[in-house]
Amino acid sequence: MNQTHDDGILKVRGLRKVYGEGSKAVEAIGHLEFTIRAGEFVCIVGPSGAGKTTFLRCLSGLLKPTEGTVILEGREVTEPPADMAVVLQEYSRSLYPWMTVAANIELPLKAVGLTKTKRKKRVTEALHSVGLSDSGKSYPWQLSGGMQQRVAIARAIAYRPRVLVMDEPFAAVDAQTRADLEDLIRNLRSELGITVLFVTHDIDESVYLGERVLILSSAPTCVLKEVKTNLPAERSQLITRALPEFASLRTEVYETIQYAKGVNYYTAQPQPENENRDEGRDKVAT
Ligand SMILES: Nc1ncnc2c1ncn2[C@@H]1O[C@H](COP(=O)(O)OP(=O)(O)O)[C@@H](O)[C@H]1O
Ligand SMILES: [Mg+2]
Repeated sequence: MNQTHDDGILKVRGLRKVYGEGSKAVEAIGHLEFTIRAGEFVCIVGPSGAGKTTFLRCLSGLLKPTEGTVILEGREVTEPPADMAVVLQEYSRSLYPWMTVAANIELPLKAVGLTKTKRKKRVTEALHSVGLSDSGKSYPWQLSGGMQQRVAIARAIAYRPRVLVMDEPFAAVDAQTRADLEDLIRNLRSELGITVLFVTHDIDESVYLGERVLILSSAPTCVLKEVKTNLPAERSQLITRALPEFASLRTEVYETIQYAKGVNYYTAQPQPENENRDEGRDKVAT
């Protein structure tokens, strides 16, 4: 099985997604193609409505693509894979309201057959990591939006998937908690060696977290540009964000997103190579 990891744990090949048919058809994804290596932290940014959530739903087997495939560890994804945990954007719908917070986090652990002792330990640790040690016995609806989102994150990290997929997971939490959660996910990635695919609309967050940032066009979406961050592996909210490289990376991502708002897969063609596209970007981004 390891052979398939050499060239990527996750491969997206010729992915296209059209919602509906005829005059009501909405083409959310034009063409996506990229590979993620095992252990990599990849961020995806793009304009609102670019098709980011659609892409993650296809990637995690929740939505059938119109064309193309997603291959996880050498196998085509056709249903939610056991090795993947997904933190959805609509967190309020992802928790069971009739179960306590602890029971919500424990549920996937039961499915993989962990003993009761191990399950309890993982739940306690995960709740502690997201700063909700006192909320295990509460019900999701008794918590604020930001707290519910942290429960969804705790459930994903307690599960310890090989691949963690997150869709704007920190959008509803306050700035301080957000910084803590960013560091939590980075640390978790190094401790457990998991692969992370993280969608955010926050440019600084994408640069801070990712080793690579994929910038998507407007819908129908494609990858407009890939930015390698090359920042020191040990990230620090104070030191990393103050680096001159950090500032130039965020400018690069920002400029590309400004440009991305005006282009999609079709208008970005027929300049498949970055040279021509960069010329266009310089004209648009000011
Ligand atoms: N279930 C759906 N049916 C029809 N169109 C949809 C559906 N979900 C999303 N869309 C459309 O697909 C495009 C991409 O949406 P989405 O994936 O949510 O983008 P993002 O997450 O980048 O904001 C938008 O034009 C949106 O209106
Ligand atoms: Mg979205």
